Amino acid sequence: MNNIINSNYWLIKARREKYAIPAFNFHNLETVQVILDTARLLESPVILAGTPGTYGYGGSRELLNMVDAAARERDMQVVVHLDHHHDLNDIRTKVRLGIRSAMIDGSALPLSENIALTREAVQLCHAYGCSVEAEIGQLVGQEDDLVVESINDPYTNPEDAKILVEQTGIDSLAIAIGTAHGMYKEEPKLDFERLEKIASLVDIPLVLHGASGVPSADVQRCIDLGIAKVNVATELKIAYSDALKQVMKEQPLVNDPRVYNKAPKEAMAQVVKQKILMCRSDGKL
Ligand code: 13P
Repeated sequence: MNNIINSNYWLIKARREKYAIPAFNFHNLETVQVILDTARLLESPVILAGTPGTYGYGGSRELLNMVDAAARERDMQVVVHLDHHHDLNDIRTKVRLGIRSAMIDGSALPLSENIALTREAVQLCHAYGCSVEAEIGQLVGQEDDLVVESINDPYTNPEDAKILVEQTGIDSLAIAIGTAHGMYKEEPKLDFERLEKIASLVDIPLVLHGASGVPSADVQRCIDLGIAKVNVATELKIAYSDALKQVMKEQPLVNDPRVYNKAPKEAMAQVVKQKILMCRSDGKL
């Protein structure tokens, strides 16, 4: 799996040079091809992220081998990431298959328990050269099987973020500053001051989840303040499925996936392109 790498080099460089690596959630051959073709075209590093639900749907070994083959075909390196994983045995199994970037999501736990779980994940993953992202603070909304209802004070406490980083040895940190998973009913109001404070206390790359529907200017301001990885899932799904519905409506007799997937793939490629340009990661591969 020479083409599957961990995310450390890319993320550290991105934070230092004030751009971000886009992390796109993938599910199947079509998403892998669209994301990697667009990344290659724009010479952008990209992270392909999958939730536990995605790896369950596609099969961890099948998905990983598919991405590895697609990356080799395009002569590029790629990060395959475990998004929102919380079970250490599950992480161990996938890291042993060759995945080299993992998120341990202890964000629903009290700080001391989040630290304990994250430390174990770091010990396990680092033995395999796998980089580790942790999360502190919580995003409301839905990301596959992960559903978080509205909660009291979900935002990241900067002092707690510093403690989590110092006591665990993680490589990157996801924070909550007002984004949510899924689309927004009204424009999100991001807490830039909080981000600035966190970035002054924590020097590892910071991660913004829930970027679908956030205005590009807001995401870019976050990148200027220390965000080095930007997660996008919902906007890709919407672009693809809206285009597919349109094809089915206009050509009700179509039954060939090579035909009906064409326009949806192009629609998804436009979103991938727009997010890469927003992250200013073009030309950084
Ligand atoms: P969106 O679905 O809101 O883009 O969030 C993606 C995400 O944060 C994946 O972890």
